[in-house]
Amino acid sequence: MSKIEEALKKAAQARQLQRIDSTLTDPESVKIIPPSKKPLEKSLLLRNRLVTLTAPQSIEAEQYKKLRTQILQRTKPNFQNTLMVTSAIAGEGKTLTAFNLAITIAQGVHETVLLVDCDFRRPCIHKLLDIECKYGLSDYLTKNIDLAKLLVKTEINKLTILPAGQMPPNPSELLASEKMKNLVKEIKNRYQDRYIIFDSAPLLPTTDPSILARQVDGVILVVQAGRTPRTDVVSALKLLEGINVLGVVLNSLDVISPNYYYYYY
Ligand SMILES: Nc1ncnc2c1ncn2[C@@H]1O[C@H](COP(=O)(O)OP(=O)(O)OP(=O)(O)O)[C@@H](O)[C@H]1O
Ligand SMILES: [Mg+2]
Repeated sequence: MSKIEEALKKAAQARQLQRIDSTLTDPESVKIIPPSKKPLEKSLLLRNRLVTLTAPQSIEAEQYKKLRTQILQRTKPNFQNTLMVTSAIAGEGKTLTAFNLAITIAQGVHETVLLVDCDFRRPCIHKLLDIECKYGLSDYLTKNIDLAKLLVKTEINKLTILPAGQMPPNPSELLASEKMKNLVKEIKNRYQDRYIIFDSAPLLPTTDPSILARQVDGVILVVQAGRTPRTDVVSALKLLEGINVLGVVLNSLDVISPNYYYYYY
């Protein structure tokens, strides 16, 4: 046998061995890998709850339409189009409320919406849209970047977002800056039919929303039903003294009640 033939034979034997090794011969060797215990990513959980998009005819979506009606009635006559959504503590549903409200307003006949992510500490808006946003509001405030380049048009008709951008070391100072104040004034007056909704950090652990509250026309306070202590809601409202609080959204409320009888029709 020539050296070449010998090498080819060895290679064929090696291939055969490999095939045997990769087949299942011993049932004991089969390891069942349990399903991952990793919790669902928060952004995915949130995205599923954009009911105004995913289930526009649902009872839940109807609540956002009611909210829209209340907000438009209270703000339109006085051209109060810059609104901040906040809450006393973290995780009460600010982002979800701000986003669903923004979608519902944009679904109206005339209004367009700019949704601004002002939660520099836990930015979430762009994640809900499943988009990468390297730059945003913080970059506008700290660098010389044209605002138009930072605005992201969404697939949702008439809804544009301004992502939070890179996490700054000094979020409250940025929100208190002259550049921020000028930006709010500028975007307020640019279009007559546009609402600007600011998603923010919680009031009690951070000072950011108290600063922003003084720059916008109105504030919506989200309270999670059955979770947020009354004392925290009172403290949050104290921080908003002198501010135009448009109302409180009681979130995560179980809505099985006789009033919902109509929906079955
Ligand atoms: N009405 C609701 N029904 C069911 N789940 C909800 C509701 N509102 C909020 N959640 C859930 O609660 C969690 C927190 O919601 P969200 O991120 O909107 O709160 P947040 O106040 O913006 O939180 P953070 O303070 O971290 O910014 C999410 O997982 C969201 O899906
Ligand atoms: Mg949030």
